[in-house]
Amino acid sequence: MNEANMKTRTLGSILGQGRRSNEISVVSSVQRTGTLRKGAMLAHTTSNETILLQLTDKITWADISEQDLQLMSENERMTYRILQNYPKSFVLRCALAGVIRDEGEGPRVFSEPISFLADETSEVRNLTTDEQKLIFDRGSLYVGNSVDGSQVTFPINGLLQRHLSIIGMTGSGKSYLVGVLCEELAKHKAAIFIVDPHSEYIPMAQSLPQTVKRKMYGLGPTSGLSRYTIDVRGISAYDFQHFTGMGEGSTSILAKVIQNLRKTESSYSISDILTRLNSIAEERTASEAIAATWARNYLRNLADSGYIGTSEPRIEEIASVNQISVIGMSGVKERIQQFLVTNILQRIFEARKQERIPPVIVIIEEAHRFAPSGENSPSTAAIRTLATEGRKFGICLVVVTQRPNRLDSTVLSQCVTNIVMKVKNPSDLNSIKLSAENITDDLIDLLPRFEKGEAVVMGEAFPISIRFRVRSERKTEHGGKSVDFENHWAQETSKTNKKRFEFPDEL
Ligand SMILES: Nc1ncnc2c1ncn2[C@@H]1O[C@H](COP(=O)(O)OP(=O)(O)O)[C@@H](O)[C@H]1O
Ligand SMILES: [Mg+2]
Repeated sequence: MNEANMKTRTLGSILGQGRRSNEISVVSSVQRTGTLRKGAMLAHTTSNETILLQLTDKITWADISEQDLQLMSENERMTYRILQNYPKSFVLRCALAGVIRDEGEGPRVFSEPISFLADETSEVRNLTTDEQKLIFDRGSLYVGNSVDGSQVTFPINGLLQRHLSIIGMTGSGKSYLVGVLCEELAKHKAAIFIVDPHSEYIPMAQSLPQTVKRKMYGLGPTSGLSRYTIDVRGISAYDFQHFTGMGEGSTSILAKVIQNLRKTESSYSISDILTRLNSIAEERTASEAIAATWARNYLRNLADSGYIGTSEPRIEEIASVNQISVIGMSGVKERIQQFLVTNILQRIFEARKQERIPPVIVIIEEAHRFAPSGENSPSTAAIRTLATEGRKFGICLVVVTQRPNRLDSTVLSQCVTNIVMKVKNPSDLNSIKLSAENITDDLIDLLPRFEKGEAVVMGEAFPISIRFRVRSERKTEHGGKSVDFENHWAQETSKTNKKRFEFPDEL
């Protein structure tokens, strides 16, 4: 017996199949398994492989009502009768999670079997350290710890060669996890680009080690960050229509103006478009003049916002090795955000196709805003293109959302690695069930009770899904902190108190 194996303990014995086809019941003593948490991994060794069992429930006699017994199969009832005689026992409900097998290249984890024959002893034990490593320690990105305390790591290529979704309700810890991933990826000189609708990743990017290059873009003159403007020459009348909501008449006038400018001028600005619209408004017949006036009004708003210019940052400047780039868009209207995201994602895709930029990770926060289901917006199309074709050009898409049900289903289904955190909403649970390939009903049932920072990862790089707690130590600053109401108010009150106290002195 090697040293690692010496540490294992027998925890209980397999009783037989449970209620579901992939469920096994194990009887154990409270003393041995009292501290085991749901999600813990147990093992049963047969002559040629190690069967992995994941704890889904722990039941004592006191948990079972007469009614429960009535509903049980004869077999199950027998199981539970045992508990009646041994009140210091648990029945551990376990899911058949996978198997460790050696097919000649050393032991590996597989997702089968669907069934197995229990060894004569029926013994169930905890994992050896080697087995824990095999299951949880899968690469060089340290993201957290498993329920039983093993370090959980992700493989870089295994993770990034497929698109990834991070799903969980508000406050479940998605953005915090994105921060953890960025920290880890930055150690490996990753090229990362983040679409950040709330500008919450700026503090994270700013607090990365100095060796990591960073580029923080904002929109408009007031953001205090590098300005991101869209080159007006890349914007068609129909883009303008989509993002401003102008009518058909105005759009066709605008289309003519833009066509003309493109023909006659090598360079033009949004004010040139406005000037031409103005002269049409003054010179033409009533209906054309009205359409031009409307077009001008819509465009004037855009022109004033400062988002549209005559140049845009070079794409090589946005996506580069050992660099994190964030585009913060807080305070910017949703349509403009979509406009911008469409522009950048199209440019990233084209540049990557021509290999002008390195393989890149594109993280889209609040992805349901940019690729909403049931809407054929340009930003949805741009994200779909990345989702369906980006992989072969070395673009890894990471979509982060609290409403998977509202995210375009093509985009969601292309994310074959899923990290799911706490989710309560039934329609969202349903879309997770449909899109995540190997999610079990047991796991779906657990998601509403997940704690902040708790997550499960599923996907090709993970033959069995791994439940883990995202590590709490971050070296970088998290921008999406929950508001500390109590302290905030307390500080405000002490300020006001001070003023009141000083008041008499001024008299
Ligand atoms: N793993 C974690 N460890 C410690 N604090 C966390 C963790 N995950 C989230 N938090 C805290 O919980 C709050 C919400 O997390 P956040 O990631 O912003 O949620 P979400 O993006 O899902 O809405 C934040 O204040 C964050 O600091
Ligand atoms: Mg968030």
